[in-house]
Amino acid sequence: MLGTALLRTVGPPIECIAATRLDADLASAPQVDSLLSRHRPRCVIHTAAYADVDGCTRDPERAMRDNALASAVLAAACAARGARLVMVSTDYVFSGEKTVPYGVDDPPDPVNVYGESKARAEAELARAASDYLILRTQWLYGPGGRSFVAAILKRAAEGSPLRVVDDEFGSPTCTDDLARALWQAAVSAETGVMHVTNSGVCSRLELARAALECAGMDGVAIDPIHSSEWPSATRRPLRAILDTRRWSETGHEPLAHWRDALAACVPALCKELTIN
Ligand SMILES: NC(=O)c1ccc[n+]([C@@H]2O[C@H](COP(=O)([O-])OP(=O)(O)OC[C@H]3O[C@@H](n4cnc5c(N)ncnc54)[C@H](OP(=O)(O)O)[C@@H]3O)[C@@H](O)[C@H]2O)c1
Repeated sequence: MLGTALLRTVGPPIECIAATRLDADLASAPQVDSLLSRHRPRCVIHTAAYADVDGCTRDPERAMRDNALASAVLAAACAARGARLVMVSTDYVFSGEKTVPYGVDDPPDPVNVYGESKARAEAELARAASDYLILRTQWLYGPGGRSFVAAILKRAAEGSPLRVVDDEFGSPTCTDDLARALWQAAVSAETGVMHVTNSGVCSRLELARAALECAGMDGVAIDPIHSSEWPSATRRPLRAILDTRRWSETGHEPLAHWRDALAACVPALCKELTIN
């Protein structure tokens, strides 16, 4: 999903080569070496992950392989070639129990396998990479992938009942906005950890209602539920809000408010989902 946004937003003077699992399994050092030798990138933007949170709970081995091991292999290969590495990470490295937003220096304290595997990926970069930036983000949605926003629009269009949690909070982030930030990060000299999300905070329920409104389906009813009523074997952080100050303090424009970003993106999502 985020990879397709990078391709939609790239432009001169940056030249980009996109790679998928068909080009290299990132957990295989020989395949990664061969890919990087072929293209000799100055910077690698690492968006690959096993990002299915419940899937990670069911298959922790795959989570550790595709998230932690793959990042370690890529970090070593980039360091060996002097390539900059920009990796996308997640609010799920935090428990969400803190009452104020998480800063870039807060230690990870994940509460599920996905979060743990991404926290390990971050630690691998800190250990093995030389020039690296970890960019944590939250609640992504956009064309070309699976997301909460797309799922809500699809269910509403099908006339399926909607139950949405009202006690989970975050900053919904549009993949095109994040992709533009990633291109800036790729050519910057910043290292370490940054938090980048669209501005503002809302609950899942508010996000679902806003998405339906943008799609002209505001008459669709939603049954608000407590997170404990949602059937899932995975514990999720309920309030892992990311403090994005380092992004703006280093001269970058803050990303648009989540409501404006959502309004700009929903028409493309509706088109993709063939919702009129
Ligand atoms: N989605 C969110 O809400 C969210 C929120 C915060 C952060 N993030 C992070 O943002 C990034 C992008 O997420 P996304 O939603 O765009 O994910 P996505 O749509 O699931 O795309 C991830 C891609 O990574 C590929 N991949 C996984 N393991 C690989 C490996 N070993 N070798 C090569 N390719 C591999 C997957 O290929 P296969 O399909 O073949 O496995 C898939 O194409 C991830 O790092 C994720 O952790 C996502």
